[in-house]
Amino acid sequence: MQSCITIEQLEPPEIHVLRLGHRPERDKRITTHVILVARAFGARAVYIADVVDEKLEQTVRKVLETWGGKYFSLIMGVNPRKLVKEWKNSGGTVVHLTMYGLPIDEVVDDVRKSKKVLVVVGAEKVPRWVFEEADLNVAIGNQPHSEVSALAVFLDRLREGRELSLCFPDAKMYIVPSAKGKKVVRTG
Ligand SMILES: C[S@@+](CC[C@H](N)C(=O)[O-])C[C@H]1O[C@@H](n2cnc3c(N)ncnc32)[C@H](O)[C@@H]1O
Repeated sequence: MQSCITIEQLEPPEIHVLRLGHRPERDKRITTHVILVARAFGARAVYIADVVDEKLEQTVRKVLETWGGKYFSLIMGVNPRKLVKEWKNSGGTVVHLTMYGLPIDEVVDDVRKSKKVLVVVGAEKVPRWVFEEADLNVAIGNQPHSEVSALAVFLDRLREGRELSLCFPDAKMYIVPSAKGKKVVRTG
């Protein structure tokens, strides 16, 4: 495997992601992408608020089996208010990504000092309590785009690009970068 770093070398902070407003019939693809970004960019868990979506679980399980990440959890049907409250009570920082928030570059140094961070992303309209309960409302630019891009840019700024070298020692397959074509190595 090419030179890479483990999740332990990437942390702290430990990152978990809370996905609000998932609608199984409409958001399967975008929520899957939120989960894939979270895993690939060094988060330990994604919580899906309120709903359980079996198809999402199957998709993610296949990715984890092939590409690794046994430490990564997908937890569905979570009560978001309870999670946010418990996270804060246990000393964690809650960062809500919203186009209305403070610029990422103004706050990222402070976020980096936290031991663990719960990153909250929405779908359609995010309820008022999230803005109030979050320790920080953070904008990735003040234009509307997407929870997938917001999460990716946030994690990349937080980790200063180091997350792109993350490796998954339990992977069944990994990629050898190449200028042309596809080089994939199957382990064991
Ligand atoms: C389709 S957007 C919803 C935009 C919506 N108008 C709102 O209330 O923010 C879904 C999610 O993407 C994230 N998002 C979109 N644009 C963002 C930005 N510029 N900065 C940070 N997060 C953003 C937020 O988490 C938002 O809840």
